[in-house]
Formats: sequence, C-alpha cells, structure tokens
Amino acid sequence: MDEVEEIGTIIKIAGPVVVADRMRGAKMYDVVRVGKERLIGEIIELKEDTVTVQVYEETTGLVPGEPVDRTGIPLSVELAPGLMGQIYDGIQRPLPLIKEATGDFIARGVEIPAVNREKMWHFTPSVAPGTKVQPGDILGIVPETPVVEHRIMVPWGVEGEVAEIAAEGDYKVEDVIAKINTSSGVKEIAMLQRWPVRMERHFKKKLDPKFPLITGQRIFDAFFPISKGGTAAIPGGFGTGKTVMQHQLAKWCDADIIVYVGCGERGNEMTDVLREFPKLEDPRTGEPLMNRTVLIANTSNMPVAAREASVYTGITLAEYYRDMGYDVALMADSTSRWAEAMREISGRLEEMPGEEGYPAYLASRLAQFYERAGIVEVIGSEEKLGSITVVGAVSPPGGDFSEPVTQNTLRIVKVFWALDADLADRRHFPSINWLRSYSLYVDHVKDWWQKDIGGEWLNMRRKSMQLLQKENELQEIIQLVGPDALPPKEQAVLEGARAIREDFLQQNAFHDIDTYCPAKKQYEMMRIMLNYYDLLDDAVETGVQMEKLKGMKTRESIGRMATVPNDNFEGPFTKIEENIKNEIASLGGD
Ligand SMILES: Nc1ncnc2c1ncn2[C@@H]1O[C@H](COP(=O)(O)OP(=O)(O)O)[C@@H](O)[C@H]1O
Ligand SMILES: [Mg+2]
Repeated sequence: MDEVEEIGTIIKIAGPVVVADRMRGAKMYDVVRVGKERLIGEIIELKEDTVTVQVYEETTGLVPGEPVDRTGIPLSVELAPGLMGQIYDGIQRPLPLIKEATGDFIARGVEIPAVNREKMWHFTPSVAPGTKVQPGDILGIVPETPVVEHRIMVPWGVEGEVAEIAAEGDYKVEDVIAKINTSSGVKEIAMLQRWPVRMERHFKKKLDPKFPLITGQRIFDAFFPISKGGTAAIPGGFGTGKTVMQHQLAKWCDADIIVYVGCGERGNEMTDVLREFPKLEDPRTGEPLMNRTVLIANTSNMPVAAREASVYTGITLAEYYRDMGYDVALMADSTSRWAEAMREISGRLEEMPGEEGYPAYLASRLAQFYERAGIVEVIGSEEKLGSITVVGAVSPPGGDFSEPVTQNTLRIVKVFWALDADLADRRHFPSINWLRSYSLYVDHVKDWWQKDIGGEWLNMRRKSMQLLQKENELQEIIQLVGPDALPPKEQAVLEGARAIREDFLQQNAFHDIDTYCPAKKQYEMMRIMLNYYDLLDDAVETGVQMEKLKGMKTRESIGRMATVPNDNFEGPFTKIEENIKNEIASLGGD
C-alpha cells in the first residue's frame, strides 16, 4: 500500500515524453502529475517500476530528479450538464477559462475543472423511490440549453432500487441527486460522472445503419450518402475544401449533437474556428449552434500529446450523448494531425517505425477510433437508439492519397469523399470527385429515400452517375476531334452530364439559399435534369439540331433551380419543367 503512495522520479526527458522510475504499482494509462509544476501526463509504457509518460503540456525546463506524482485514475472526461457550448483542449480543459486565468500562453499545471462546480441546474426527477434501475436508466432530466435536454443516467456498474431521489429543484453537478440500494450497499449518485477516454462506453447491440444523415449537401445526400452511425473520410490536399465541408456538416446535418474536434492545420485555423463557431446560428432553431455543440480545439502551438488525446476525448463525449438516445455527429479536422502526433510520440519512444515513420499500430488505432461510431441500442431498461456518425478529414501531403493515413483510413470507413485539387482550381465546389468517391450505405438508406422522398431515388442516382461516367469516357474522343464531331446522341449525353455536374453537384457553401438543399428539393432537381436529358435525347433522335437545343432560353433556368427558395420551390420548379418541355416541343416542329 505505501508503495502506491511513493513518489516517482524523472530520469529522462525527450520532448513530450518523460521516463520516471520508482513507480511500482502504477497502471497503464493512469494520469500522473509531472515535475514541480505538476504537468499533466499519462502513462503509456510500463516496465517493472519504470514508466514512460506522455505529457500534455510543454516540458521545457523540466529536469531529471523532479517528482512524478500518481493519481491512480486513468485519463478521463467529466460528464455532466454544462458540456454543451464548451470549448475544450484535448484533455478537456476549458480553453476560454484557462485563457482568462493565465493569458494567451496557457500556463502550465493549471487546474480548472472541465465542468463548472458552482452552476445550478434545474433537475426534474423521472423515477420514484422503489424503482428498480440499471445502468443507463434515466434518473431525471435537466434543460442543459434551450435545445438540449440532458438526461442524467445511472452510471455503469450501478444496479438496484432507488432509495432516494432529489425533488425537482436546482442542484450543483456534485450534489447527490439519488441514492440507490445495490447488492454492495448504498450508492450516491451525482449528476457529475467520469469515464476513461480510451475505453469505449457500453451499449446493448450495434445495429445496421438504416437512416441517412441528411446534410443538405447534394453530392453527399444524393450521390454518396452517409448513414446515421456511419463513418466517412474526406481526404484532400491543402485548400481543397476539407474545413469548409466539415463546417457545412456541423452546421446543417440532422444530428442532435455536434462534437467538433479541430486539430489546427494552419497556425491560425483553430483561431478562426474559435471565432467563427460561437457566431454560427443553428438553422433549425435560430439559437446559437454552440447550444448543441462541443468544440475540442488543438491549436498548433499546443503539445502533440494533447492532440493525440483529443480524438478520444471527443468520441467519449459523443458516446455519452449517444447513451441519452441522441444522434451525435463527430467531425475531426484533420485526423492527419492526430496521426502525426502518434508518429512523433512513437519516435520519442524509439519504437520500430512502420510506413513513412508512422508507428506499426497506426492502422489499429484508426480502426479503434472509427469503430466507436455506429447506431446502437443504448444501455438501460427502456429500448432506445442512439448513434454516432464520424467524419474524418485527412490531409495527405501533396494531396497524394497513397500515403499511409489516407490508405489506412479508407480501409475502415464506408464513405469516401475524394477531394480533388483540379476541381478546386477550376472553382468547382464542393471539389469532390464524383468518379472516385463512393458510399457503401446506398443500399442501407435507399428505403428511407424511396418511402419518404420519392420512389425513383435509386434509379435517378444511377442514371445521373451513368451520365457522368459516359461523359468521362467521351472526354478522350473530344480531346481528339472536338465535341462537335460527336454523334448527336452523344452530344445530348454531354449536355445532360453538364447539367448534373454544374447545376446539381456544384453547391455554394456561402450562398444564403444554396448552402442547404432539402432532400425533396435535391430529388426534384435531379428528376427535372434527367427529364431534360431524356427530352434532348428524344429530340435529337427526331432530327432536332443540338445547336438549337443548346440555344434554348429555358436552358439557364436549370442552373437557377439551386437558388430557388427552399421553402417554396415546387411551384417554380413546375414552371421550369413545363417551359423546358414546351420549348423543346416547339423546336421539334421545324
Ligand atoms: N462548398 C464550397 N463552396 C464554396 N467555396 C468553397 C467550398 N469548399 C471550399 N471552398 C473554397 O475553398 C477554400 C479552401 O477550403 P478549405 O476548406 O479551407 O480547404 P482545406 O481545409 O482543405 O485546406 C475556401 O476558403 C473556399 O473559398
Ligand atoms: Mg482545413
């Protein structure tokens, strides 16, 4: 016992990694406080009484001989009302409060709790004394923000009968709100609970994803859909649109809760996020988007180890809200920065390097992270579903997808949104390559589309993609002989593909209306464009000149569909469709 209380001693320092001895009895992943300044660290290697610690704070100035103090608990997050709207660093330290306390350059060893201890929350019990409860059962609810009902759950490992439950009223997160009689005595439950970040939270059963996560981005929803509980990667070189698309998802996707993990690519990028996000309005409620968002921010001047931890912190927070029965979406921008942190720490540990210096366990770490996504039956006696959708941006150096992080990620995720520098150069946004991208959820979500939106979804999707495929095949001939030398039917293909490509797949994130496109509007746009192509195809067959068809007055109305108001597009769309039909018919006459 007294061995556990012993204080260790630093014997070696290598950047963010510190080696200490006299640590017998310490456990893997336990948190320690390093040096006189009590820097926060985590044990990542253990050999007899020598431990290797990754330190989450700047280690300059640390010297051998300084003490290492153990805490006996693994790296954990605090879970309680008050998470929504917060901006944390990779180990859940509240950034704005730390900055307030210590200035822009975060002082070391500061201890500010992740969740406010003084704030009062209005708790309404949902069980009565005598109720039998198990982990995950809801003891009461707290309006955390105007849009998020926080459900206080029985923690893992506690099962029994409610002995006492707090009356409706205002409580602090550490106040006891329930006492539960268990087989091992009475357990006092507070709203504040903890969970070790490297351990997946429990669930009853993982289900097959069936519902699309609607994003309002046409190339995602209509072409390469992601399901609630699905995984996607969005790899792309510098400036191809990773961050813009992650922001679009955070802003528009129909998840209840957003967890945004930013691993600062450029020095000032996270500063932008920190400035921008609090200003964003939730399009569904008109409230600030932060009311249902947690932000985890790693600026590039923060130590690499905190970056390594941030994805775990993020996914654990996501799991906690999933367990309440919510659909959560987690965006990580960019996972390459996380992988680089792993590489740096692995290098300091002098581990045998794998491909391009990344550790051999890169693939398994990525897999473990993405495996925490999914749609599940959550724990608790009530039958409830919750989901976590994970979208990871990847930033391969030089935009070359053959590098290890992209390759390993693509082996795991089920959706690939391939950003393309050529498209970005041509200002085709979103610069997602329609020939290289794919989604393995099409079959999962097709029933939702066909029942809720329109029966032809799958057919239309296939037809649109075939047109683009055909266009691509024709490119070679066009290079040789020019488009005009093609037979009329193939010229019609080119015109149909052009409409899909320019007027459907392009979508301006910064346009008031076009930034979000409802599913039904996407469906109607696709339907009208494909009809347009069919009419062209028929017309050229009866001898109408392509030249004339391309000169039609109504042609440009197709390009205007995207910006027709989202709440009243049916009327204008019918008009557009009729006019096209009439004009083509009028050309057929001569
Ligand atoms: N969907 C979009 N609509 C309009 N512009 C876009 C879109 N996506 C990207 N862009 C443009 O591309 C620029 C770079 O995008 P960004 O997301 O910062 O790239 P990355 O994160 O991949 O480096 C943006 O500043 C914006 O001008
Ligand atoms: Mg970016």
